[in-house]
Order: sequence, then structure tokens, then C-alpha cells
Amino acid sequence: MRRWPCGGCRRLRVVGRVAEAALLCSPPVDPRLRAERERFIEAARKADDDAALYALKVEFLGKKGSLSKLRSVMRDLSPAERKAFGRDFNTVKDEIEALIDARRKELAKRRRAEELARWEDVSVVLDPVPRGALHIVTQTWRRLERVFENMGFTVHDGPHVEHGKTNFDDLNIPPDHPARDMQDTFFVVPPTDDGWERVLRTHTSPVQIRTMLAGPPPVRVVALGQVYRRDDDATHTPMFHQIEGLYVDRDVSMADLKATLYHFVSAVFETDLDVRFRPSFFPFVEPGAEFDVRCPFCKGDGCSVCKRTGWIELGGSGMVHPAVFEAVGYDPEEVSGWAFGFGIDRMAMLLHGVSDLRLLFDGDQRFLEQFPC
Ligand code: DAH
Repeated sequence: MRRWPCGGCRRLRVVGRVAEAALLCSPPVDPRLRAERERFIEAARKADDDAALYALKVEFLGKKGSLSKLRSVMRDLSPAERKAFGRDFNTVKDEIEALIDARRKELAKRRRAEELARWEDVSVVLDPVPRGALHIVTQTWRRLERVFENMGFTVHDGPHVEHGKTNFDDLNIPPDHPARDMQDTFFVVPPTDDGWERVLRTHTSPVQIRTMLAGPPPVRVVALGQVYRRDDDATHTPMFHQIEGLYVDRDVSMADLKATLYHFVSAVFETDLDVRFRPSFFPFVEPGAEFDVRCPFCKGDGCSVCKRTGWIELGGSGMVHPAVFEAVGYDPEEVSGWAFGFGIDRMAMLLHGVSDLRLLFDGDQRFLEQFPC
């Protein structure tokens, strides 16, 4: 029959706590063993590291340890007393060993917990779900918006299904102009109640008209968005993206236009880049000009992107035509203004080194994943 309700050291290993173990076990009968055991329990409570535990072990169980020394008292005992003392002696010795072991494990566990609290576990997979990113056209769109907003422009929008008058006539594009040809325009049926054709807007320029009709000058806006044309080949898609800029006030000149374009391309490409005008024709501006930017890749030396010309064509621009001012009720004698427009997709391709426009709209995950934002 076991004398100790805890089953001796076996129970102690499970409990693993000096204080609890001391309460659970009934002490040995011999007062010297009892005192030794209590002294150990008290000392073990204070031992806070491995070195202290080792010192305790030596102090009690070492060859010259205090418990070991008690063995000698057996010489003076009767055989029956010696047997009982011997059994208790062994139990206390086992108990001390078990307590030291349990305490050591407890300390190691505490150390590990402290370490874990201090260091990040880099092997933990925190976000196993692949993260999405904005499409490069959206990234470019937002970048342009930011640049123009910083220059004092307001962002405006207009409908994609546009009135034929706003898309064409008010912009001085007469009915026989090639841009109104069936080849280019998506017509929406039915026409408006008053017989006007309804179209998918072929450019963002009608937002100029809507902005000026909405209020008096001065006006300083940009409009970004989808536009639609019946075109589909390596360099054209039926839907693409444009940005339109419009500035109207007193004494606005072509010099303001050039300075604005210069600031905008330098901000977008994050380096100073020249801009040049080439005379061109657009019905809604006079004079009209296409504008080019110094190739940001070769800085004008000539490379494959600029086709060895040192310049990259960006878009169209010019001074707002008096006929456009008249269409919106502005007095061309009082105000002047300029406008520009260009493709956002082409800008995205330039910024990210993409060579084929169609890649932007194929939705191929392998392509899109290359441009995290
Ligand atoms: N709307 C023209 C197009 O779609 C682009 C453009 C050219 C816009 C000249 C302008 C401009 O504002 O002045 O090709």
C-alpha cells in the first residue's frame, strides 16, 4: 500500500508545481526527513533558473548533500525502523528529483513563451489568399487624375451614351465629317425623341460641352473615361480610354497649354521632359496641334519605343474654336481657352513597357499579375 495519496513522485511529475506538490503529498514520518523535504520545497520555490536548480540538486542530493548525509542515521535504527526510514528516504529523494525536473521544464516553457512574445514567427503564413491589384489602366487613370488635381483641375464625367449634338455638332463636327461615319461610330437606337442620333461617345470631348453649358467661365477641368469606336486591330480596340482637358478664362494662350502639358508629362514620368507641337486639324480647335513628348526612355537619342525619332506622339490639342464657344453661349470675344485629349491606354503602355494594346483588355491573369500596385 502506498503511504502517499499522490502516489509519490509520479503524481508530482504530473502536477509540475512545487507548491501544489508539497500540499498534495503527505510528509514522511521521520522529523529529519520531513524537515529536509520542507527545506527543499521552500528553496525550490526561489530557484528561478537552471543554474539555481542544479545548485539545489547538489545541495540536497550530491554526495555530500544534506539529504545524502541523512542516510548515515540508519546505522542507529532498529531493523523495522530502518526499513521504514529507508522507504521514506527513497521517496523524498525521488520527490526532490521529480520536482527539480518539473521545475526545469516549467522554466523552459516560460522562457519559450517569452521568446515567442518577443519575436515574430516568419514561417507563419498570414495571408494565403492571393492579393489582387488595380489594372494598369486604372492605375494610370488615377495617376493622371492626381497630377491634374494637383495643378488645380477638377475632374468631371459625362454619359457614355451621348447625344449626337453634344458628341459632334456642338464640337463643330458637321454632319458630313468623317468622324460621324458609320465606320467609326456606334449608333444607339432608338434616336432621341426630337430625332437626334444617339451614340456611344466616340471621345471625351463632349464633356467640354457639358461643362461649359453647366456654368460660366472660368473653367479648368479634366474628364477621364471610356470611349467607343468601331475599330479592332493590333493598335485599336472598340472600347478604350481617353482624358480630355479644358481651360477657359480671359487671355488664355497656347503658351499656357504648352506649360501645362510640360508640367503634366514631367510629373507623370517623374523626370523633366520637353513637349513639342505639330500643326494639325481638329474641328473643335483653331489652331490645332498634335503634341509629342521627348522619349522618356532614351531622352531623345532614339530607341525602339520612339521608333528612333526621340519623340513620342501623345495626343491632340489646340485653342477652343469660336464656334464651340458659341454653341455653349460663351462669348469668344471675351474668353479664350484651350483643350487637349489623349489616350490613357497608350500612356499606361508607355509607363509599363507594354507593346500590344490588346494585352490590356484580354484579361489574362498572367499578364495582369505583373503589375501589382
Ligand atoms: N477628341 C480627339 C480625339 O478623340 C482628341 C482631341 C484632339 C481632343 C484635340 C482635344 C483636342 O481636346 O483639342 O481624337
